[in-house]
Amino acid sequence: MQTKIEKIDSHSALAIKNIDSYENQSLDFLSFREKLSLANISHPAKRLEWTTARIAIHEALEVLGEPYPGFFKDEHGKSQSMSGQGFVSLSHTPGLAGAIFHKSQSVGIDMDLIREKILRIGFRFLDATELDFLEKDPIHYTMAWSAKESIFKCQGKRGVSFRENILLEPFSSEASVIKGRIRGTKFADHHYTVQVRKLENIILTYTIW
Ligand SMILES: CC(C)(COP(=O)(O)OP(=O)(O)OC[C@H]1O[C@@H](n2cnc3c(N)ncnc32)[C@H](O)[C@@H]1OP(=O)(O)O)[C@@H](O)C(=O)NCCC(=O)NCCS
Repeated sequence: MQTKIEKIDSHSALAIKNIDSYENQSLDFLSFREKLSLANISHPAKRLEWTTARIAIHEALEVLGEPYPGFFKDEHGKSQSMSGQGFVSLSHTPGLAGAIFHKSQSVGIDMDLIREKILRIGFRFLDATELDFLEKDPIHYTMAWSAKESIFKCQGKRGVSFRENILLEPFSSEASVIKGRIRGTKFADHHYTVQVRKLENIILTYTIW
């Protein structure tokens, strides 16, 4: 897979890109502020990850016919459009970077490698009702983890607990949609519909507010 771009609808698109595949692509589209941020990333693997995610957003925007506005991180770490137009979310996992853009609504995207060890840390991010319906299967647990990451990134605020504030409805390990909600924070409760994809050994999820 080089770049996989999917136009979700006329307002949104996502792009998944191999992290080693950008060498010949121009980075001229980056804003001045982003070029400064990049200059401050010294670790080569981090630079490649950061850059590939921005190229992925650029490509998703091209599909929508939207200009690249440049993005900055707000005080919670969530990327915001510098023009004030549109919403973005980013994720990296070994070998892959992903981005989703929506013209008018907040979005969240996440990619996670399926690993056995997630079964041992379920108690940290899962509520008792979720532990009841999930099979002891790394795919099922990774789907739950990734759905919570996407919901977390879509809402964007630090301090929201995966275990206490993000609750998922029962779903099977074959599900392509997971429903969840945020409850018990100082912000309004909100219901989310999370899309789920399996890409070889990776779970990809995304949600639109
Ligand atoms: C910050 C966090 C969302 C990053 O997710 P991750 O799976 O480690 O890494 P990913 O590569 O998928 O995502 C990284 C991107 O998340 C985005 N991000 C960071 N903070 C964010 C926030 N508050 N809201 C939305 N997006 C955020 C950034 O764009 C970042 O990419 P960049 O550094 O290239 O700009 C995650 O680690 C986190 O803090 N989660 C909440 C804490 C928590 O409750 N953890 C579980 C407890 S058991």
